[in-house]
Amino acid sequence: MTANANHQALLDRIRTKRAKIGVIGLGYVGLPLAVEFARQGFDVSGFDVDEFKTGEINAGRSYIPDVSPAELSEVVKAGRLRGTTQMADLASMDVIDICVPTPLRKTKDPDLSYVVRAVEAVAATLRKGQLVILESTTYPGTTDEVVQPMLESRGFKADVDFFLAFSPERVDPGNQKFNTRNIPKVVGGVGTASTEAAARLYGSTVDTVVQVSSTRVAEMVKLLENTFRAVNIGMVNELALMCHKMDIDVWEVIDAAKTKPFGFMPFYPGPGLGGHCIPIDPFYLSWKARQNGFECRFIELAGSVNSAMPDFVVERVSEALNTARKSINGSRVHLIGVAYKKDVNDMRESPALDVLELLSKRGARVTYSDPYVPELRHGGHTLASIDLTAVLADAPDCAVICTDHGVFDYDALLKSDTLLVDTRNALKNHQSPRIFRL
Ligand SMILES: NC(=O)c1ccc[n+]([C@@H]2O[C@H](COP(=O)([O-])OP(=O)(O)OC[C@H]3O[C@@H](n4cnc5c(N)ncnc54)[C@H](O)[C@@H]3O)[C@@H](O)[C@H]2O)c1
Repeated sequence: MTANANHQALLDRIRTKRAKIGVIGLGYVGLPLAVEFARQGFDVSGFDVDEFKTGEINAGRSYIPDVSPAELSEVVKAGRLRGTTQMADLASMDVIDICVPTPLRKTKDPDLSYVVRAVEAVAATLRKGQLVILESTTYPGTTDEVVQPMLESRGFKADVDFFLAFSPERVDPGNQKFNTRNIPKVVGGVGTASTEAAARLYGSTVDTVVQVSSTRVAEMVKLLENTFRAVNIGMVNELALMCHKMDIDVWEVIDAAKTKPFGFMPFYPGPGLGGHCIPIDPFYLSWKARQNGFECRFIELAGSVNSAMPDFVVERVSEALNTARKSINGSRVHLIGVAYKKDVNDMRESPALDVLELLSKRGARVTYSDPYVPELRHGGHTLASIDLTAVLADAPDCAVICTDHGVFDYDALLKSDTLLVDTRNALKNHQSPRIFRL
């Protein structure tokens, strides 16, 4: 087939939904995407190195809260989705979507090792006419500087023999309104043929596709979005510290400010950043900027304000205990919610872990309740979640709301005698000398 014929054949297979789609990495991003492609009628194979995950998929069981077990088992039973650890099967895919982790090293440098391993597997069986899309969040230049040369080392030319694009994933775990289908998808290819193929693919599955001129622009879009959040959260966290000194209720300030119908968007203070994205992605950008001789001052400043928030939470615990003539040392402090955000089970980078660590170091006896996280292992601690009602009956010295899950019985909390440190304004509208807000 000529280069153009490769492209045309791929577009036809996408249009008629005969394209076989492989999703590499079946986590928070990859599994919802794989299920959505399958629901739209594509034949989908999910590739993962984790046998547990592929086994669960084949048994029709979902391990990601945003993926409904009914939807998953429906597409598995219909034979449109299967999980596999056999990377050699990538050879028969028309489209390969890479959704593997992109963490930071201890030095806060990007760790591309998962991406590199996944791309090695793709390169090993690459054939003409395949479309490869990277979805993992990463620094601008990863697709054309790292992925493209690895794939071209097979002797094929990108945008001619095979097609290569970047499309950032914007999934927001726990969000009831926006999901894989109705979040607009940005795509940028290494050339026009690649952009077109990727846009056609997503166009058949998501409501809105936004095409950009290059993979670098698409990579940068995701980093702008997440840096925007990290910086604004840093700004509002600093405002919370400032308001505390000035004896002003920062939550009331934000609620009033957000009545402005234009030019303002509310961000809220909290115990610190969590999750796999906001605490990490901006450092992918600052690392790459530094390679180009540019220092990202906003990112560094927001990072230092946000990472100091757990210390402020502990300071509030100390202030609360002080009113009862108690010290952190020897007190029983109960954490309410430990996942990094409301109504999810994701513990990655959760600031509750820092709060736990800091309180333990100061001699507190720490327990926790989180129905989404039955067990917690961190830095030598192994704790089991305790039922909140049972804990309150036993009156801990202080309880700290780290995550405002909807399932918690806040009324019971208000009726108890326990000192309450509320890092999320979950007890909004309740004034009491027992309640200590950020
Ligand atoms: N979680 C989010 O909310 C979110 C949102 C937007 C973007 N992202 C980005 O998407 C990417 C994936 O994040 P996630 O949250 O889905 O991660 P995750 O850890 O939930 O899932 C990643 C999966 O990849 C698998 N994996 C790792 N190496 C592999 C390999 N070589 N071959 C096959 N499978 C492999 C892991 O076993 C795991 O199941 C990251 O770059 C992340 O920054 C995440």
